[in-house]
Amino acid sequence: MYDGFFRKIEYLRFSITDRCNFFCKYCRTKEACEIENEELSKDEIFRIISVFKKLGIKKLRFTGGEPFLRDDIFDIIEFADSIGIKNINVTTNGYLDEEKIEKIAKSSLLSINISLDTLDKRKYKVLTGVNGLGKVISTIKSLSKFKKVKINTVLLRSVNFDEIEHLISFAKENNVVIRFIELMPVGVANRIFESEFVSIEEILKKFKNFHEIKSNENSVAKYYHIEDFDHIVGFINAVSGHFCDRCDKVRVSSRGVLYNCLFDKIGLDLKEYLNDEDVLMEKIQEFVKKKNFARLPSTDSMMFKIGG
Ligand code: 5AD
Ligand code: SF4
Repeated sequence: MYDGFFRKIEYLRFSITDRCNFFCKYCRTKEACEIENEELSKDEIFRIISVFKKLGIKKLRFTGGEPFLRDDIFDIIEFADSIGIKNINVTTNGYLDEEKIEKIAKSSLLSINISLDTLDKRKYKVLTGVNGLGKVISTIKSLSKFKKVKINTVLLRSVNFDEIEHLISFAKENNVVIRFIELMPVGVANRIFESEFVSIEEILKKFKNFHEIKSNENSVAKYYHIEDFDHIVGFINAVSGHFCDRCDKVRVSSRGVLYNCLFDKIGLDLKEYLNDEDVLMEKIQEFVKKKNFARLPSTDSMMFKIGG
């Protein structure tokens, strides 16, 4: 499937729930979650994935909320695999018990992105609302033996500006990739944006010697070999960078609304067309043709609904 600028759309990010057991300060607040949650059923998710596969989607990422709060997530992953999608990934907060970790290890998931913004137990509790650092570290350690694990760290001035070196050493010790992400002015993050935003440029100034590593053309992350650590580190300049021109992705929200961009206000409600696959396909293609070439500066959409 191509958009109106002949960009090939091959990547679907699917938020399969807006529930989450965390309240990360830049993502969810108790008030923002008061509206009752209404998520797609497993069958509705299967239909949407099938149609996107037919439209040429090659890469799928499940996000949330916290995707592993859905009991049927492993059925969903295996369904996607069974219809021939080979590049299936998930983003999680990593607050998982042994049983889930074992299931992930055996699943068809290609990679797991785990959010980790601080290695300080106290700061972790303040930031997420959960005393979960130990459990998340143990998820990272166990899963990295079986699967490709990436750590996602959102840069926050008051939380981790002074922890960058420590976080890189932790990633190196555990032989996993770490990627630092600029805080995006999305939803509740708008409230803390001014005081907490740190640019990638500012982080790179901390290092004496580093050089860029060539990465996959469509990757939003730039990877650098940081000589001080002898480790490769990823940086996602979600705010200062401009990678809209090569964007290959679309998103489906937890309520089944298709968005061409994280920053878009208008989406296509797929639920209206789920009973007729041909119509659904047509509507999606028509909508994706309208994908913009640049994004709006900020949005009040909630990250936990549309997917990080
Ligand atoms: N800016 C940048 N990243 C964000 N995430 C959630 N909200 C934001 C934001 N405002 C990230 C989380 C996680 C993924 C789900 O999205 O840290 O890695
Ligand atoms: Fe939950 Fe992820 Fe949002 Fe944190 S960033 S509240 S873990 S959805």
